[in-house]
This record gives sequence, C-alpha cells and structure tokens, in this order.
Amino acid sequence: MAEENTDGEAVEARVSALLGRMTTAEKIGQMTQVNAPGGIPKDLQSQVQAGQIGSMLNVVDADTSNEIQRIALEESRLGIPLLMGRDVIHGFRTVLPIPLGQAASWNPDLVRQGARIAALEAASAGINWTFAPMIDISRDPRWGRIAESFGEDPFLMSAFSVAMVEGFQGDDLTSPGTIAACAKHFAGYGASESGRDYNTTNIPENELRNVYLPPFNAAVDAGVVSLMASFSDLNGVPASGNKFLMNDVLRNEWHFEGFVVSDWASIEQLTDHGLTANDKDAALEAARAGVNMEMASTTYADHLAALVEEGQISIERLDELVGDILRAKFRLGLFDDPYTDPGKFPELANIEHLAIARQVALQSLVLLQNNNEVLPLKRNALDSVAVIGPMADAPYEQLGTWVFDGDPDISQTPLTAIREFVGDRATVNYVRAMETSRSRSAEFFEEAKSAAAKSDAVVVFLGEESILSGEAHSRANIDLPGNQVDLVRALSETGKPIIAVILAGRPLTLLNIVDEVDAIIFAWHPGTMGGPAIADILFGAESPSGKLPVTFPKMVGQVPIYYGHKNTGKPAIAETFTHIDDFPVKAAQSAYGMTSHHIDAGYEPLYPFGFGLSYTQFSYSDIHVSSDEVRLGEDFIARATVTNDGDVEADEIVQLYVRDLVGNVTRPVRELKGFTRLRLQPGESKTVEFELTTDDLAFYGRDMQLLVEPGEFHVWIGGDSDAGLQTEFAVVAD
Ligand code: BGC
Repeated sequence: MAEENTDGEAVEARVSALLGRMTTAEKIGQMTQVNAPGGIPKDLQSQVQAGQIGSMLNVVDADTSNEIQRIALEESRLGIPLLMGRDVIHGFRTVLPIPLGQAASWNPDLVRQGARIAALEAASAGINWTFAPMIDISRDPRWGRIAESFGEDPFLMSAFSVAMVEGFQGDDLTSPGTIAACAKHFAGYGASESGRDYNTTNIPENELRNVYLPPFNAAVDAGVVSLMASFSDLNGVPASGNKFLMNDVLRNEWHFEGFVVSDWASIEQLTDHGLTANDKDAALEAARAGVNMEMASTTYADHLAALVEEGQISIERLDELVGDILRAKFRLGLFDDPYTDPGKFPELANIEHLAIARQVALQSLVLLQNNNEVLPLKRNALDSVAVIGPMADAPYEQLGTWVFDGDPDISQTPLTAIREFVGDRATVNYVRAMETSRSRSAEFFEEAKSAAAKSDAVVVFLGEESILSGEAHSRANIDLPGNQVDLVRALSETGKPIIAVILAGRPLTLLNIVDEVDAIIFAWHPGTMGGPAIADILFGAESPSGKLPVTFPKMVGQVPIYYGHKNTGKPAIAETFTHIDDFPVKAAQSAYGMTSHHIDAGYEPLYPFGFGLSYTQFSYSDIHVSSDEVRLGEDFIARATVTNDGDVEADEIVQLYVRDLVGNVTRPVRELKGFTRLRLQPGESKTVEFELTTDDLAFYGRDMQLLVEPGEFHVWIGGDSDAGLQTEFAVVAD
C-alpha cells in the first residue's frame, strides 16, 4: 500500500510539474483525439510535433505506432506520449464470442482470461487503450448493440465489468501487455427508445442508480482508467454535456481519477441534439460537464482556447481536465516506454489463445430445448448427419460485430469441426440451402430436404449475419430473417431429428420454430473457435452449461421484458397466452381477469433470464439462510445443496435471487445477488454457500439515498430466474 501511495504521489507531482510547463494550446492538444487508420499522413505528423494531439485511434501497425510515439517523445516540445486507442471489444486476432455470448458463460474468471489475451495481442500492435468493456444494461433485443453488452442484469454486468477491466489492465498498468480499459457508454445508452440506436433515453434517477449505474461504479472501483460518454440523450441532457453524470456522480460521488473520452463526434452532436446552438457552445458544455478528451470532432481544438481566453472555462478547470489525461499516461508508464516490440509478445492467435477462445465459446453455448434427449448425438451410433443452413460454414459471420482485427481465415466453422469430429465414421451431408440468412429463395430446399432424408440426424445452422447486429444495426422484427423458418419447416417434414443451432448477435424470437425442431442450441456469434465448441456440445464431449444473460421474448411486442421487473398492483397469476383466440365477442371486459399481461402473449417470456439446459439434471434441496433474522450491517449465508441426478458429469450455474418485499420505492420481484459455476459428477452433491451482508440488499430510495430497510426478504437458489427453492429471512434494525 505504502508503495502505491508513493507512486500515486509521485504521479501527482509529475502531473503538476508538467502542467506547469504547458501552454494552453498544448493542453488542448492533449484533449484532442484523431482518427488515423492506415498510416500517419504528414500533416498529422506535424500536429504531433506541435503537441496538438493527445491520442489517436485506429493505428494498428506496430511500426507506425512506434514511429508516431517517437515523434511525440523526441520531436514535440514536451515529449508527451500518445494514447493509442482501438475497439478491442471481444478479442483482437483471436476473436472470442461476442460479449453477450461471453456473459452466457457466467464465468467472469474465464472472461478475464479472454480480455487478458486480447490485451496481449492488441499491445503487440502498439495499442495501449481499448474502448471496452461496453457495460450498458440492455433489455431490448431490438437494439443492435445488445451484442456488445453483458445483458440485462446489473449484478451480472458488474461482475463482467470488473473481470474485463482486470483482464485488460492486469495488476500492473506499466507492464507490457496490459492496456487501459474504457467503460462505456456512460450512461443509459441501452435504454434507447424502441431499441433504435442513438435514440432518446428517459431513465428516472432512481432507476438509473439502481440498474444502469452499478456496473460503471464497479468498473471505477476496479480502477478503470477511462470512461466513454454515451451518444444518447439522458433525460433531456445528452451524456456528453451531462454534468450530473460526469461530475456529480462520477467525480464527486465515486471519486473517479481517470478521464472521460467523448464518443465519436458526440460533442459536436450536442448541437444536433438541440442542446447547444453551435460547436463552441458544445465545447463549453462538454468541458464544463467533465469530458476530458474529444474523439473525432474538433470542437475542443477549434474553440477551447477562445473559451479559456474569454474566461468561460477557467485555467483551473482546463488543468483538471488535462491533468486526468496526463495522470493516465503516467500510470500506464508511457512516458518511460510507449513503444511496442511485437517480437517480445506471444504470437497472435497462438494455440493457447485459441484454446481460451474455444473454452469461452464452449461455456457460452446455451441449450434451450432438447426434446427426447435428442442431444448429444451419439457419434458411434450415427452413420450420417446432415449439416444445413447459411451459418454452418460462414467464417466471417461467426465472428460477430466489432472484429476489426479478426481474421476469418482462421475461423473454425461448425461444418469443418463436425467433419473433423466424425472423421470417417460417418458421412456429413452438407447443403447451405440459403445464400444468407436473409435469402428469400427456396431453390435449394429440396436438396436440403433430401440431404436430411438420407441422414440419421439434421443439424441446421440458422441465425443472422454479423452485420445484422452492432452499432446502428437495430431491428424492429427479431424473427429469424429471410426464409429460414420455411427451411426449418421443410426439414421437419422429413421426420428426422432436427437440431437448430442459432448464431446471432441478439436474442431472437424463436416461437415459430420451437415446435418444428427437437433441440435448440443458442450459439450467439461464437468467434474464431465457434465450430469446435459447437461440435463438442453436439456430440457430448462436454455438457452444455451456458445460461441466458438476457430474457428471450416470445414476441417482440413483449419487449422490454426482463426478469427483475416490478410486481405491479395487478400481477399476472397464470399464463394466459392463448386467450385471444378464446374471447367470445362482447365478453365482459373482466371475463379473463384483470391482470398485467398481453392477451396474445401472456406475461412469461419464451426463455427466462438464467435459463439453460444440460445433458444431466440438477436438483436443489435444503435451502436455508444462516439466520431467520439478520441485523442491519451483519453478514449472513444463503446455502443450498445441488445434486447431479443424471449420469453425465457437468457444470451447473447456481443462482441466488432475493426479493425485498416492501420498499421505500417498489422493488423488483427478483434480483440476482450471487452465482457460481459448479462441476458435479453423476450422483454427486455439493452445498453451495453465498456469503452476503445486508449492504448487498441496498438500493436507492425516494431521496436517492442508498438504503437497506428492515423487513421481509424472499430468497431463491436455483438454476434460472424462474426456478429455485424458496426460503425467507428478515432484516431487523440494530
Ligand atoms: C462507438 C464507440 C466506439 C467508437 C470508436 C463509436 O461509434 O459508439 O463504442 O468505441 O465509435 O470506434
């Protein structure tokens, strides 16, 4: 600790000394980030020499990066190194599953290792800063960027937020191979109205603090170097000009000592939002709010000097904003060594990195349905298998969104992996059947059907290409696109066992295929090693263990639908899905109850948060809390016994949920408060213990104070958010 303090003090001294030597122009230079893909043109070099640039994004070539750092260090007056940013979102050359898929592993330790290899690979190319993790709570599968997030739940998201920050940043920011993380997008971006990207968000402060902010708070506590301001308008004040977010919450309440970068031109866009009249006002609002660095647009470079001159921005304010950036550069050790030497790093996409990618993909696969235990396929009892569909052999598509540095040529596709897995023991009958997921033609359906008819089992790879999710790629209809449902129907006419494997960047509405297929594996966009991971699950080399990090609706009209909803005054009590067809005309308004549900969709999702099947069955018993009455401030333990009742060794994700029955503001019907991945042999039982304190039950009440109120709590421990054994306890005042 003492050493860290000294380090901290030394850094502060270096920051002030440097600030003392800087001109206003040089300070503003530090606040300017420019895009420099594909080399550094001469004018950019002279800007670096003149100290007009603090950071670049999208330089991914080690030599170029080293040369530009050399110019900054040796040819600029003050020799300040550059932050080299890049979107390393789910891997660099080795592409891991999309973050939403990684979240389905419920394995933060593994995800930490994934971020670690991404950092190593990126650092070898001269990158010292990634724009990840994206930790926007996402409760709307229409939103294309749900792919980049870890799902709907603040507790789960916070766990991954910490794991990613730790993976990228390691425990020594100065060591080669660690890079600065950037928690984004601060804040509330995932609540974009109708799931349309960049759309308005309106989030009451209470909801913001209870749901959207905790993952960011967790990242700050984990020492994240930077945050990125969101594009979105939060309650009338776009994030990039939002002082409440950047200053009051982030700096004053959380004591964040890193820096905030805008999103791409998001300061300039304050004028498009209608918050400011022009670029100069936009720069003023952003600087006042606390955005340290401007990405892509140049309102700071163009107007901050005048704003300082006019006294609208004080020198002290400017120094605070610049100081935060310099502090990060010192903490990263860039003043001592900003260079990279690729020769000293492990090779890109080496065997160990690919093995981690495969493991993450394996644990991210969610088995949603397995009628008559059609899976796993018995390799030795199978003479032939049909592999059908547009996603079976799509090396680029399986990588998902944000894969600037990925290489489809090294993707191992499901088709290749299945062929390898069965070897010459069985025939693989492959028909792509559709050019893309969106094809409307049924031209090859007959061929697909005959391949199915002559095979013992049919594995159909469906979903959506990578371009259908990600930034600015929201969908209003989240059914399987194109003719895919018809393809499934055609295949099901053969009467063969049908296994659907779905590769997608978001939850899809699958109601129209669940009765047509025997099994469904949801594979997300599983990355470079998706194929072997899928083959391992199909053939039972490993039991599926992924669990949904987000609720799957039956129909898009149910959205937003998430497990941690409020009870309402008229909660639905029984699933009422089919009623619309039964309503006699002119029936009494109250004939079918007056509860909170859709008459054509009921109130339940297709698959709840936390859900995922296994090749074995787990049972839960003996749930209890260490004390019926827990005093405020005390620790307590919630425990249950989990048994593997089947005959396959497997992992189970054990989940702990709590409900606070009465609150100063109404509380969700369930909240995740703990989870663990447990491996059990056939017949084996283990007792799982979750250690909590009453602080873990805290929430922001009416006056935005963090509260734990005495009262009754329900507790569930089980395998998803809808299941589990229930017990209860009370929190009592001291
Ligand atoms: C995205 C960010 C990303 C940035 C830089 C923006 O359009 O919203 O998430 O980090 O571009 O590429």
